[in-house]
Amino acid sequence: MSNYHIKHLEEYFQVYRKSVRNPESYWEEIAEEHFMWHKRWDNVLSYDFEKPEFKWFEGAQLNITENCIDRHLRTRGDQTAILFEPNNPDEEALHITYNELHDRVCKMANVLKAEGIEKGDRVCIYLPMIPELAVAVLACARIGAIHSVVFAGFSSTALATRINDSNCKMVITSDGSFRGSKTIDLKGIVDEGLKKCDSVETVLVVNRIDSGVEMKEGRDKWLQPLLDTAEATCEPEIMDAEDPLFILYTSGSTGTPKGMVHTTAGYMVYTAFTFKNVFQYRDGDVYWCTADIGWITGHSYIVYGPLANGATSVMFEGVPSYPDYGRFWEIVDKHKVTQFYTAPTAIRALAKENLEHVEKYDLSSLKVLGTVGEPINEEAWHWYDENIGKKKCPIVDTWWQTETGGIMISPIPYSTPAIPTFATLPLPGIQPALMDEEGKEIKGNQVDGRLCIKFPWPSMARTIWGNHQRYKDTYFSAFKNMYFTGDGALRDSVGYYRITGRVDDVVIVSGHNLGTAPIEDAINEHPAVAESAIVGYPHEVKGNALYGYVILKETGETRNQDNLRKEINQLISDRIGPIAKLDKIQFTSGLPKTRSGKIMRRILRKIASNDTSNLGDTSTLLNPEVVQEVMDNVIK
Ligand code: WTA
Repeated sequence: MSNYHIKHLEEYFQVYRKSVRNPESYWEEIAEEHFMWHKRWDNVLSYDFEKPEFKWFEGAQLNITENCIDRHLRTRGDQTAILFEPNNPDEEALHITYNELHDRVCKMANVLKAEGIEKGDRVCIYLPMIPELAVAVLACARIGAIHSVVFAGFSSTALATRINDSNCKMVITSDGSFRGSKTIDLKGIVDEGLKKCDSVETVLVVNRIDSGVEMKEGRDKWLQPLLDTAEATCEPEIMDAEDPLFILYTSGSTGTPKGMVHTTAGYMVYTAFTFKNVFQYRDGDVYWCTADIGWITGHSYIVYGPLANGATSVMFEGVPSYPDYGRFWEIVDKHKVTQFYTAPTAIRALAKENLEHVEKYDLSSLKVLGTVGEPINEEAWHWYDENIGKKKCPIVDTWWQTETGGIMISPIPYSTPAIPTFATLPLPGIQPALMDEEGKEIKGNQVDGRLCIKFPWPSMARTIWGNHQRYKDTYFSAFKNMYFTGDGALRDSVGYYRITGRVDDVVIVSGHNLGTAPIEDAINEHPAVAESAIVGYPHEVKGNALYGYVILKETGETRNQDNLRKEINQLISDRIGPIAKLDKIQFTSGLPKTRSGKIMRRILRKIASNDTSNLGDTSTLLNPEVVQEVMDNVIK
C-alpha cells in the first residue's frame, strides 16, 4: 500500500521525507492505487516557474465524477453521499445515497447537454446550499463543462462581473433562498445582473421557495420539469488530466476578481488525499463542513474530497443562529457528526452565546474538529477544545487558499501534537519557505517572513482565467522559482508554522477574502466622494473588520454624515455584497501619502487599530500634518 493514510507521527515524518525527496514517485504511487483512470499518464510532473506552467499527470485521462460517484456504486450505492439539512429544522433532512446522487447528476448532465452545453463551456452556478448546488457542480464535471460557482451572497454587479469575465453560457440559480428567518430573492439578483451580460443564453431555475418569480421568455426555464424527463444515465466525458475543472473567483489586491483555474487530475488526487488524512475519515463517519460551496472550502471539502473517498458529507442550508444559537450542535447531535469543520469567526460568535446552547446536545459522536479561513485566536481555540471537543478531539487548524486548491499546512489528527494558533506542519509534498524582503530564504527556526511554497503540488491553480500575466505577476514574481502566498508566517523552535496574516491589501473578514481596491472603487463612485482608503482592524468576532477613510469632494460638505455613511455602505453592498460593508467610516481632509503619491496604508492600519505608539517615520511623507488630523478624529 502507498502512503495514502497516515496514522502516527513517525509515519508522517517518514512519508514527508519521502514526498520531498522524490515528489514524482510519491504522488504517482497515490494516483495509481486510489483512483480510476481511463488512460495512465505519460509524465507525473513537468513545470517551469518562469512561464509559469505546471502539469501533473499529463497524458492521463479520467472523469472526476466517476471517481466521486460511479466507482462507489458497487460497494456503497445505498450509503448516504450527501446529507442535506434544510434551513428550517422542521423540514426533513434528505439522505441522498450514492445511487441517487448518480441518477441526479446524470439527469442534470443530460439537461445541460440538451440545453447546448458542451465540453469547455462555462456554466455559472448561483445557488443557495441546497442539493442542486452539489449536483450542478458534478453535472458540469460529468460533461466537461467548466463550473464557476458564485457565492449566493454576492450582489448582482459582482455576479455580472464574474459571468462576463469567463463568458458563461448558462446560469443555474433558484427562485430564492432561505437564510434563517429571511428569504432572499436570488432570481431578482440574477435578472438584474444579466442586464449587463450578453453571453448567457439560458437560465435554469430551481424552485426552492415557491415565490412565483418572473420567467423571461426564451431564456429562463424551470429545472424540475426538465429533470423529470431526463435519462438517469450519462456517459462521462473523458477528460485530459490538465483540462480545466472549474473557475473560482477570489479577490485580489487590485482591480477585478481573479478567476482561479483548477484542473482535473491533480486537484482530484490532492483534495482526496488531504481529506482522508486531515480528517482521518473512516467508513461510517459523518463529516460536516459548514462552509458554503460558493467558496473553495466547499468545493474541495464538501464536494470533491469527501466524495472521492466515498464519504458521507453534510450540506447545511441555514445559518448558525437560526432558530437559535444551538443549531450547529443540534445538527451534530441529530446526525451523529464525527468530523466538524468550520471557521474561527463562527466559533467566536457562538462562544459569546450562553453555554446552554451547547450543553443541551450530545456531542459525543465528534472525533475531529477543524478550522479554516483565518487565524484562530487562543481563546476561541480553547473554547472549541473544551466545550465542543470536550478535550478529546484533536483540532486541525488548516491553512490553505483558493489558489492552493487543498489544505497545505495542518496537523494530522492523532499524529501531530496541536498547539493553539499554529497550523503546525506542512502536509506531504508541500515545501514551505519563509522569505525576507530582499528575496532571500530565511533558514532555520524561530524566524518569520513571507510564506512561499518552493515546489509544485498537484492541486495548485494553473492560471487566472484570461489573464496569465496577472497569475505570473501575483504569485511568481515576488520571489524567484517560488509560489508566493501573500501571507506572512513564523516558524517556531520545533518547525511549526503559525500564519500571521496577509502582507498585501487583502483583508480577511469573517474568513472571507476582501480586496481593499474593489471596495475603494465602489466608494469612489459616490458623487460626494473624492478619494478613499480601506484598511482592516482587529475585531472580536470577525477577526478583522473594515475601516474606511473618506475624503469628500466639498470640504464644506453639509450633508448629514450618518446618511453619507449609509449611502456608502449601500453602494458597497450593491457593487460587491453585504459582506464587504465597512464597520467604521471616518471623513478626513487628507490621507498620508508618500512623495510618489501612494497612500501609506501602514499608518492608516495602525491608527484604525488604535496602535499609534509607534507610527514609524512620518517625516518623509508628502503631507505629515495630516497624520495628526486623522488620529484626532479616529472612530473608536
Ligand atoms: C487565510 C480559504 C490563518 C490566509 C481556504 C489565506 C488562514 C487566506 C487559514 C485564503 C488558517 C486560511 N490560519 N489564516 N488556518 N486558512 N487563511 O482563498 O490569509 O478564501 O491566504 O481560502 O485565508 O483564503 P481563501
